[in-house]
Amino acid sequence: MNKIAEIFQSLDYGPAPESPEPALAWLASKGGKFGHFINGKWTKPGKTFASDNPANGRKLADVTDGSAADVDKAVKAARAAFPAWSALSGYERGKYLYAIARLVQKHSRLFAVLESMDNGKPIRESRDIDIPLVARHFYHHAGWAQHLERELPGMVPYGVCGQIIPWNFPLLMLAWKIAPALAAGNTVVLKPAEFTSLTALLFAEIVERAKLPPGVVNIVTGQGDTGAAIVNHPDVDKIAFTGSTEVGKIIRAATAGSGKGLSLELGGKSPYIVFDDADLDSAIEGLVDAIWFNQGQVCCAGSRLLIQESVEERFIAKLKARMATLRVGDPLDKAVDIGALVAPVQVERIRDLMKRGVAEGGQYYEPDYDLPEGGCFLKPTLVTGVSPSHTLVTEEIFGPVLVAMSFRTPEEAVQLANNSKYGLAATIWTENVNLALDIAPKIKAGVVWVNSTNNFDAAVGFGGYKESGYGREGGKEGMAVYLKPAWEKALKPFAAPKATERGGELDAGGIDQTAKMYIGGKQARPDSGYSRPVYGPGGDIVGEVGDGNRKDIRNAVEAARAALGWGTATAHNRSQILYFLAENLEYRSEEFARRIRAQTGESLASAQKEVTASVERLFAFAGWADKYDGAVHNPPVRMIAVAMVEPIGVMGIVAPPSRPLLGSVALLAPALAMGNPVVLVPSETAPLSVTDLYQVIETSDVPAGVINIVTGPSASLAKTMAEHDGIDAMWFAGDAATSAMVEKASAGNLKQTWTSRGLYYDLSDKAKFEGDYFLRRATQVKNVWVPYGA
Ligand code: NAI
Ligand code: MG
Repeated sequence: MNKIAEIFQSLDYGPAPESPEPALAWLASKGGKFGHFINGKWTKPGKTFASDNPANGRKLADVTDGSAADVDKAVKAARAAFPAWSALSGYERGKYLYAIARLVQKHSRLFAVLESMDNGKPIRESRDIDIPLVARHFYHHAGWAQHLERELPGMVPYGVCGQIIPWNFPLLMLAWKIAPALAAGNTVVLKPAEFTSLTALLFAEIVERAKLPPGVVNIVTGQGDTGAAIVNHPDVDKIAFTGSTEVGKIIRAATAGSGKGLSLELGGKSPYIVFDDADLDSAIEGLVDAIWFNQGQVCCAGSRLLIQESVEERFIAKLKARMATLRVGDPLDKAVDIGALVAPVQVERIRDLMKRGVAEGGQYYEPDYDLPEGGCFLKPTLVTGVSPSHTLVTEEIFGPVLVAMSFRTPEEAVQLANNSKYGLAATIWTENVNLALDIAPKIKAGVVWVNSTNNFDAAVGFGGYKESGYGREGGKEGMAVYLKPAWEKALKPFAAPKATERGGELDAGGIDQTAKMYIGGKQARPDSGYSRPVYGPGGDIVGEVGDGNRKDIRNAVEAARAALGWGTATAHNRSQILYFLAENLEYRSEEFARRIRAQTGESLASAQKEVTASVERLFAFAGWADKYDGAVHNPPVRMIAVAMVEPIGVMGIVAPPSRPLLGSVALLAPALAMGNPVVLVPSETAPLSVTDLYQVIETSDVPAGVINIVTGPSASLAKTMAEHDGIDAMWFAGDAATSAMVEKASAGNLKQTWTSRGLYYDLSDKAKFEGDYFLRRATQVKNVWVPYGA
């Protein structure tokens, strides 16, 4: 025992141990061995593996390594439970979610202790952050169950959801997955991560006690293979995954062409930007939470410190002093800041990365104290002397390692911040509200925290830009990824128009015959130097267009990227331009009708209807441009979260073969309205209606590069676009095989995709396609957390 005088000297904490006994007793009551929780029952343990306590290496329990047969059994149970569960009223489902929230709260301490023992995170965090947020998530979604029909009309649940979660926030990630899925009326098969299955198994007991109908929630434990069995199971309708970007890409490729819904919450390398006018002491405390929360094993960890050069020295000195006071130790000690990493393999991974980092010239600092023996402990570490391409700057370390770089101007800060394949989160510290709100929109990330960090709430969407994934968890956006339009299930296969005999005279329908590409606001000859004929219904040649190839797509993408400013033009401005396009198209409607007729052979009246519908569609999205906007959330802290609807970036669009004009306009209009520059491949068989648009575009004040048009073979141009890293999202309307290819190839940079999968989407249907169906797919939501409140 320290003497009082000594304590006054050191002002050190004594130990404040939390007892492991209740958690150990619960494990013992289960015989220390677990099967799966399937159809409301516990299966007999099969082949098992151990779940260890990473703070001391001791085994906590054995859990079953789920086989494909186990997964199949769970999916069958979920399928059988789906009709009744989805048919319950929202109120009834909400009551179950409420019951779960209450039960989690009642047993919160047991959950917190078990979580800390299985994962290694400090009890202070599991007790005060993880578990309260779990309860909050179920409460919040109880309300969503009830209000869904009003807030998201016409939407139905997917069916069976396969959910695969990581080990860094075991129970919290479970809650983020299960709560919205159940609220929407889905049933679930969830696999916890192999290092941390135990709180998911305790949660299964809560499910039992809340008397959920059997099969609504199934928990199958296992490793990567078990996860893959869920992903590949043909009767799973939607996959939700949180974990590494590497596995996220594998899952994207594996689900391509399956029609499964997919949401991915992946890795990050989030910038933590400190300007010279920031309250530096607060910024230091924020930084401690940003990078040493949960030992740095946080997807949105502020792991890249960007510090303004004028305060760099002072800030780094303060930081080192603060690092020296961070206490690393027993996760069950309430006075510990940093616990154990999840497993020895993660410690090794981080050590290997550090070795590479040092070899590449990084210098590192760690406080001078001893670590506890025998567990997965690492010191808080600061790396300096690195450049933007350094491994430790580009790679997600997923440990207590911060890399620091300096910047001079706000512009440079933005450049450095965005210089990453990831885009999950960002933090901005400055006392200047103008500066903060100037920087926030420029950062490519799904979450931005101003003068705060690592805030989460069930009402506020969380998720990434770029290779940090897509879909959101929390809030209305989070509900939307567990629902689909009711009409989708009635879609029928698309029957391609009958091929006509080829050959004959050139009949352009009375209009100019040499159509070029349209790139960067100029007409451009095809790189190939070849043209391809366009046939009329009788097989006669009615015109020629350029035969586009990968070089044309590259040029078009380059032009589109140079036009990304379209997304920051005011919505009013975009709206005016779309109205102008509509007006100028209408002015020439007769000419366009004749051209449609020349290509399809339909009556002039029917062709005229297509032109009129296209004008109306442009009008509709001109109207949407300044109305499809965000929300302000009120999380239970003194902050607001401003949900901004932002464009995704450059979009590649391949229009369907049918409806030469409307097929392109119906996809182009929402993409443009939301601020995305587009590379458009018009109908392969009837492209002339779009090549005729050039003059309309030119007379409508559309900035150069905002619309780029490449004619040619749809499938091969789609492939080039899907593989192009300069394209951020892609829509493909056409056959099933090419749709699958587009989805698979999109895994490269994880572009968001919409494909028609060989089904017939009647794009003239205003009820379906004049509203949020494509608007949602043309946007991503950024949540900006700002201090607010009395
Ligand atoms: P991981 O991505 O392999 O594991 C996450 C989950 O996916 C686990 O439940 C795992 O069993 C499952 N899984 C693995 N392979 C699968 C497959 N082929 N199909 C379906 N499911 C599969 O992550 P891991 O190996 O645990 O950690 C490695 C690194 O990944 C970490 O060091 C970190 O950099 C990153 N990571 C990032 C996370 C984030 O939230 N951003 C979370 C976990 C890991
Ligand atoms: Mg463990």
